Amino acid sequence: MAKILCIDDEPLMRLTTCDFLSDIGHEVLDADTGGLGLEMFRLHRPDIVLSDLRMPGGDGFLVVAHLAEESPDTPVLIISGTGTVEEAVKTMRMGAWDYLTKPLSDMLLLGTTVDKLLAKARDRKNSRQYQQGLESRNQELESEIVSWSRRHQDTVQRLETALQTSINSLNLAVKEKDPYTAGHNERVARVAVDIGQAMGLGKDELDTLLIAGLLHDIGKIGVHEAILNKRSSLSASEFEQIKSHAIGGHRILENIPFDGPVAEAVRQHHERFDGTGYPEALSGESILLEARILAVADVYEALTSNRPYRPGLAPADAAAHVLERSGTHFCPRCVDAFARVLSLQNT
Ligand SMILES: [Fe+2]
Repeated sequence: MAKILCIDDEPLMRLTTCDFLSDIGHEVLDADTGGLGLEMFRLHRPDIVLSDLRMPGGDGFLVVAHLAEESPDTPVLIISGTGTVEEAVKTMRMGAWDYLTKPLSDMLLLGTTVDKLLAKARDRKNSRQYQQGLESRNQELESEIVSWSRRHQDTVQRLETALQTSINSLNLAVKEKDPYTAGHNERVARVAVDIGQAMGLGKDELDTLLIAGLLHDIGKIGVHEAILNKRSSLSASEFEQIKSHAIGGHRILENIPFDGPVAEAVRQHHERFDGTGYPEALSGESILLEARILAVADVYEALTSNRPYRPGLAPADAAAHVLERSGTHFCPRCVDAFARVLSLQNT
């Protein structure tokens, strides 16, 4: 059973329509003008509105226009005896759901039209509720994703902070062991990153260069201080111990989950392009690019640094040393990039 509002200024028509609808089980309200019909609509919220077109005191166009605005899900059926086809089209465009012409010779047609429009309204309402349910679920999912993403970012931030703290602690450990290296690691890291940038490397590779530069000599923790600080020449076995810092550094770092090949770059930073380096005597591009860059930065930085037993070389002399060894000790591409960095610094 539905609640139906019937608006018609013709008493007989109104009575006939209302009686029929009432007889087939609907609750029926009626009004004799469009204005009164709208007031009754707002008061009783019927499920469907049947309206005449031509009426004094507010016609069917007024009813359709208001209901299309106020309650677009309520079906409006126009029943007119005077309207033209153009007017019928106009009411449908304004928001009427269907149009019947008077006289209603077959009242059953009215009944089936009302049922059809009520079913259509129910479908539209269900579809809207379904759509709203979907939208609401989408919003819930979006807020879950935002919340998860924030938690994830917090975790990443904490891990990055923990990793950075660990790198600083390791760097401090190697400085404790070998005070000469104070500042050396930072300078190697800076020069290595400058070379990497000159070669057009991306952020990940530059991050690897920075960390590997800071930690390249971490393996010296495992070498005895007396050997590290020895001023006289080293014996063969002492030199072997010094050389072990490359593999030692790799061992210390290999289980830390860096994004890039930090441990491998540290292991290879004393390899030479011509295959005469250590620990594996790798050559050419079989040496990791980051390690080839570190080699240039490390040697250049070491040559320009003051040692207890000798003053540091002038930057130009240290650079000349590096440039002369392009293709032998050092990778030519890395030396070219290093030269570009120097020329930029000198301009
Ligand atoms: Fe080293």
